[in-house]
Amino acid sequence: MKNINPTSTQAWQKLLKLKVDNKDLQIKNLFKDHSRFNNYSIRFEEILVDYSKNRLDEETKAVLLQLAEEIDLKSAIEAMFTGEKINGTEGRAVLHTALRNRNNTPVFVEGKDVMPDVNAVLFQMKSFSDQIFDGTWLGYTGKPIKSLINIGIGGSDLGPVMVTEALKPYQNPNLEIFFVSNVDGTHIAETLKKVDPETSLFFIASKTFTTQETMTNAHTARNWFLEHAKDEKAVAKHFVALSTNAKAVSEFGIDTKNMFAFWDWVGGRYSLWSAIGLPIACAIGFDNFEQLLSGAHAMDRHFREEDFERNIPVILALIGIWNTNFLGASSEAILPYDQYMHRFAAYFQQGNMESNGKYVSRTAEKVNYSTGPIIWGEPGTNGQHAFYQLIHQGTHLIPCDFIAPAISHNPIGDHHMKLLSNFFAQTEALMNGKSLDEVRSEMTKAGKSVEEVDKIAPHRVFEGNRPTNSILVKQITPYTLGQLVAMYEHKIFVQGVIWNIYSFDQWGVELGKVLANAILPELQDDRSVSSHDSSTNGLINAYKSFRD
Ligand code: F6P
Repeated sequence: MKNINPTSTQAWQKLLKLKVDNKDLQIKNLFKDHSRFNNYSIRFEEILVDYSKNRLDEETKAVLLQLAEEIDLKSAIEAMFTGEKINGTEGRAVLHTALRNRNNTPVFVEGKDVMPDVNAVLFQMKSFSDQIFDGTWLGYTGKPIKSLINIGIGGSDLGPVMVTEALKPYQNPNLEIFFVSNVDGTHIAETLKKVDPETSLFFIASKTFTTQETMTNAHTARNWFLEHAKDEKAVAKHFVALSTNAKAVSEFGIDTKNMFAFWDWVGGRYSLWSAIGLPIACAIGFDNFEQLLSGAHAMDRHFREEDFERNIPVILALIGIWNTNFLGASSEAILPYDQYMHRFAAYFQQGNMESNGKYVSRTAEKVNYSTGPIIWGEPGTNGQHAFYQLIHQGTHLIPCDFIAPAISHNPIGDHHMKLLSNFFAQTEALMNGKSLDEVRSEMTKAGKSVEEVDKIAPHRVFEGNRPTNSILVKQITPYTLGQLVAMYEHKIFVQGVIWNIYSFDQWGVELGKVLANAILPELQDDRSVSSHDSSTNGLINAYKSFRD
């Protein structure tokens, strides 16, 4: 991949000028052009992305597209899809797209086609998940599995959590699924209270199989299980491993026959498509899991083949660059109007922030521009009654993605129409706002006194001009969810390419882990600690005195 400082491009310099020229641009005025919706929305299969409510005119859009050309985005996309080692600090290819490469064209890493291995693990996942799904896999006392318990953290947790929640309507009603991630003993303790060892299946999900939280929870689960089963041989029917580390799996005591492999070219936060997706396949059935892969594959092809102007991930990424680097936004909200998607924003907190939360460029220099934004969000309409106040009237510019399905899985009365009326109203309100004149005349008509109008009206003004994207899908199905996830993955990739950072490593999580490992032995006795700064010493010593 080329290493280009984006600020050195002609496009970047033009965008800086456009930012000044367009400082008074009002989104609502752009709608004087009646074809704006048609020109600023993209329909792909059953997804409609409307990006017309952004502070984006034709010239800015053209220059953003020019930025993508100057950065040579096209070659970067090809480099990823064809297995080049674009994860430069770890010397790895980045091939989550191969995991869902449904047309099976060869994908080479160091001259070896990875597709036969991908297909072999998918076949293994199918045979196993079919037995769990149809109740023919029996536990050590001959009973079918009822409880699926995934033990993993980060990418080995969030993807399966998010997907199984989003696709709850597809879940086998005979199965319950639980997720244990936190090293806080409460998480595993509360989960084990709800399950029966005779009917429980544990997925120990860890790419490295060394992660402290996961290994601690896995040992606790195994001890709990053996206290009941009292037979090491029974472990094979109740524990499976999802990992790249066969040695550590067998040292833990899981037969490698019960291991589902993946590879170093699958990033943790891009791993739900791999063996890490096994709990998903067990919960919703392998056919539905394949639909998820197929949806992602369709989005992969769209991303790889479509012109940038009609390319959803590219357009969303460029709008994000405009908002972050030129309009000064430092966060983005993801707001699904779908209760089942309540973990979607949390999932992309890791997806985006672990990928693009970097201040060092691919040339190992400190960047002189902003990179990845803070990602956050909650489902609508709940968020409306919590934090939307700040989005509407706060001092921060917060671009929002609104996501909604046209068809609900729970068509009860007029719930869904009420939900969607809010979905449509919010982006309209964020764009149009309400002027002082409008507020004053409303209040006057309502019979308020002049004093009251003078005092209250300014508080009721909405400046508007808040940028939003609206993403409307026909229904949240395994296929469309796969498309949506792949869409955001590729948006993140495009932004990382433009910011000239390595999106597929995560060195920033290391330091805290190392220091925690150094502190752990210091907590194991009652001696006063003096090896740190006075704050850390003080806190550790206070902890020790509290527990006395
Ligand atoms: O600490 C960060 C991280 O390495 C993530 O990138 C990863 O998803 C998570 O930990 C879990 O790692 P593993 O799957 O190796 O247990």
